[in-house]
Amino acid sequence: MKNLISLIDKKLDEYMQIVYPEDIFKAMKYTLMLPGKRLRPVMCIETARLLGCDTEKVLPSACAIEMLHVQSLIHDDLPCMDNDDFRRGKPSNHKVFGEANAVLAGDALLTFAPQLIIEKSKGFSDSQIVKIIHEYTKFAGAYGLIAGQVVDIESEGGKLVKSAEETLDFIHLNKTAVLFRLAVRIGAIAAEADEKTLELFDNFAKKFGLAFQIYDDIMDEVSTFEELGKSVGKDKASGKLTYVSLYGLESAKTKFYKLMEECYGIIEKYNSAVYSEILNMLNDRVK
Ligand code: IPE
Ligand code: IPE
Ligand code: MG
Ligand code: MG
Ligand code: MG
Repeated sequence: MKNLISLIDKKLDEYMQIVYPEDIFKAMKYTLMLPGKRLRPVMCIETARLLGCDTEKVLPSACAIEMLHVQSLIHDDLPCMDNDDFRRGKPSNHKVFGEANAVLAGDALLTFAPQLIIEKSKGFSDSQIVKIIHEYTKFAGAYGLIAGQVVDIESEGGKLVKSAEETLDFIHLNKTAVLFRLAVRIGAIAAEADEKTLELFDNFAKKFGLAFQIYDDIMDEVSTFEELGKSVGKDKASGKLTYVSLYGLESAKTKFYKLMEECYGIIEKYNSAVYSEILNMLNDRVK
């Protein structure tokens, strides 16, 4: 996985050129190049590889997913959203470049990502590109990530249209699981996998994404700034609806372990060292 992350970092650096007007490109590149876990591009590439597609072929798409993720982080940290001053161990984008540039940098990453897929992908058919862009636009927008973020913010004030349980799952599946789903779905499309295989990975990513946000909620409660590289204890302070706030820490952990077991069960037959490493890493951190 280390080599894969180095390759992703190298490509992100290469794709993200600083040109005039430099302020926007520098703001985009700043959060992008800070050390993230790179889970989504790694999962995209590994899914493609497991299903028979070359890493090189899917790299532009994998990097595009990381750009979309970084966009979501930059906007998530804004004062009007979670108001977080730190991200990936460093001051948040708006703390360095100002709010206007942070909003614009997010917008620019969101739009640069599909541009990159179209311009840099080699070896895909036109219909594969259309499918990939369709998945991207669907999951990045109000039918995916944005839906999750809106309900997440609304829930702070206790403004719930549905039950707390239903609302919480909606938030987590949309704000978080969709990007993991996007990653594996694009990996499967790149490999021209059949519908059944695509659905298997999609189901895996749904469970993984839910588990991942529960892990993030738990870490906000029990971890440290040094370990996470972002502020802790913010969910409670801002009255967020999370697995920890709704069910308590122990039940959140139980739910996390159950989902992780299901993830191991689904992915087992592929014998993937990369997926094992990812699942083990999360499991170990929660213990
Ligand atoms: C943070 O995601 C946002 C959540 C969905 C909880 P990551 O924990 O994957 O962030 P990076 O990419 O490693 O910084
Ligand atoms: C993660 O939610 C979802 C997105 C960033 C889209 P959080 O608000 O919990 O993420 P962190 O904890 O700030 O990384
Ligand atoms: Mg948030
Ligand atoms: Mg946040
Ligand atoms: Mg969080």
